[in-house]
Amino acid sequence: MLASRNRQAMTASPTLSHNEGVRHPQGDEPYYVPSGSEREIFASCHARGLPVMLKGPTGCGKTRFIEHMAWRLKRPLVTIACHDDLSASDLTGRWLIRGGETVWVDGPLAVAARLGAICYLDEIVEARQDTVVVIHPLTDDRRILPVEKTGELISAAPGFQLVVSYNPGYQHAIKDLKPSTRQRFVTLEFDYPAAGTEAEIVAHESGVKRSVATKLVELAHRVRRLKEEGLPEGPGTRMLVSTGRLIASGIPAADACRVALAGPLTDDPDLLAAIGDLADATL
Ligand SMILES: Nc1ncnc2c1ncn2[C@@H]1O[C@H](COP(=O)(O)OP(=O)(O)OP(=O)(O)O)[C@@H](O)[C@H]1O
Ligand SMILES: [Mg+2]
Repeated sequence: MLASRNRQAMTASPTLSHNEGVRHPQGDEPYYVPSGSEREIFASCHARGLPVMLKGPTGCGKTRFIEHMAWRLKRPLVTIACHDDLSASDLTGRWLIRGGETVWVDGPLAVAARLGAICYLDEIVEARQDTVVVIHPLTDDRRILPVEKTGELISAAPGFQLVVSYNPGYQHAIKDLKPSTRQRFVTLEFDYPAAGTEAEIVAHESGVKRSVATKLVELAHRVRRLKEEGLPEGPGTRMLVSTGRLIASGIPAADACRVALAGPLTDDPDLLAAIGDLADATL
């Protein structure tokens, strides 16, 4: 197919790339409160070029952690949200017609490899297997990205690191990571922060008083126990921050909990009533 095009008008230019998704470390350090030695382990993996998998429930700090680490390690960050339709070309790049010329445009994975960036594939399990295998050669010692359409072998620049996130709560038999993918990653397990830490985060991020944040965390602990009653996933720290923001802006606590905590968690009338009762009793 390529042969049928005017080859003279085709330029494979690594400089012409999708740079919109690249975030360079700048500004203040992204706020992140560690729960253990995850920062030290991550930095060690980074220095040794080891790929890392962040595993944990929604809203527990995985994305914030990676933003924080990219800033600390002074590396650009390229984030790719994985989904069903993501193709290998979406990652590596494609030929496009621009101003009558056929030009090569790097995909975000190729950009990250050339830049020596941290490349964060969010919710990797959502991507199809034929897409996921594209990252495999980047995870072994050779650290290369073969680009089938140009025949180029991109060697990842120093500093390049692959990071993926994975929420085991959503895994289905048909949608799980193959062992050949999983076994390439050092795994950091994330969970909701300990109560005191979580209250500190909620107060910092939402602007509510520490006493209110402590109550919200207490409520979250109670609601998380409703998993036994059929709640698919408990509230993450993100929801407590949103609820706190509404309260800080003057919305009464009961209303804030209803719209920012109960509503997004479930449609089940019994569970909604149970969460409402817990909110009334706690706040
Ligand atoms: N350890 C933490 N330090 C600072 N803020 C945190 C921490 N954990 C959670 N947060 C707060 O919770 C919000 C949600 O966290 P984040 O977006 O990182 O979750 P996530 O694990 O990436 O979720 P998802 O799986 O849905 O993408 C952050 O924007 C931040 O306000
Ligand atoms: Mg995230």
